[in-house]
Amino acid sequence: MSKETTQRKIVVFTGAGVSAESGLKTFRDSDGLWNNYHISDVATYSAWQRNPALVLDFYNQRRRGVVEARPNAAHLAIAELERQYDVVVITQNIDDLHERAGSSNVIHLHGEITKARSTANENLVIDIGGADINLGDLGEDFAQLRPHIVWFGEPIFNYEISQDHIASADKILVVGTSLTVQPAAGMLREARHDAEKVIVAFDVEAVPYGYTLMKGSATSLVPSLVNAWLNHQKAT
Ligand code: OAD
Repeated sequence: MSKETTQRKIVVFTGAGVSAESGLKTFRDSDGLWNNYHISDVATYSAWQRNPALVLDFYNQRRRGVVEARPNAAHLAIAELERQYDVVVITQNIDDLHERAGSSNVIHLHGEITKARSTANENLVIDIGGADINLGDLGEDFAQLRPHIVWFGEPIFNYEISQDHIASADKILVVGTSLTVQPAAGMLREARHDAEKVIVAFDVEAVPYGYTLMKGSATSLVPSLVNAWLNHQKAT
């Protein structure tokens, strides 16, 4: 069979759990971020209006953690899939560990912590790497910079294109998300009924129809699943 006909499409849909073994906290597990912070204090536009310094401090801490973290075996295995498949990674994560593991097509639904944007113009986005954002840091339009992330109540990024990718995938691998946050989680219902659909997590809020939940850690389950898919593709 030619490469064109064997090349099939995989969507990998990830959440905080894929980065947990890189040392980044999830949100809703027992030691998760939302057990230590109130969403309404740090992750909404009204929090920003009320206390921007607190919001900046919260995201500056997240950014420092991301800079120190390294991709783990799950991120690396997901990147390996590109050897034989057309792969799109759709992530709710604001870290860049998929990119640093080698994935070349990563869509961020909730923004990217290594970028900042103008509070006056959402199209003025700049790379800041690991640098903090402080009050008084201005964009080229002289407006205060804010993290380029999605707060609760704000629209997510790349919604339509992500739905289209999910709807056209032959396989969907979901890793490390509780599937509690909409509209991201609901997108998985766009999958084709005949697509192979697997979730790797310790637990999820509800398993969407047609998906199989494999309970366990990302680094223990994802590499073997990826190997099985790569070997299967070789054999067909
Ligand atoms: P959650 O904290 O809600 O869920 C983490 C998921 O990862 C759970 O299903 C855990 O079982 C699983 N998990 C934890 N450690 C794991 C590991 N080592 N291996 C595999 N699975 C593991 O995180 P998300 O679902 O990503 O949004 O949260 C979704 C959104 O809620 C985030 O993007 C963020 C947050 O509020 C915004 O801030 C807009």
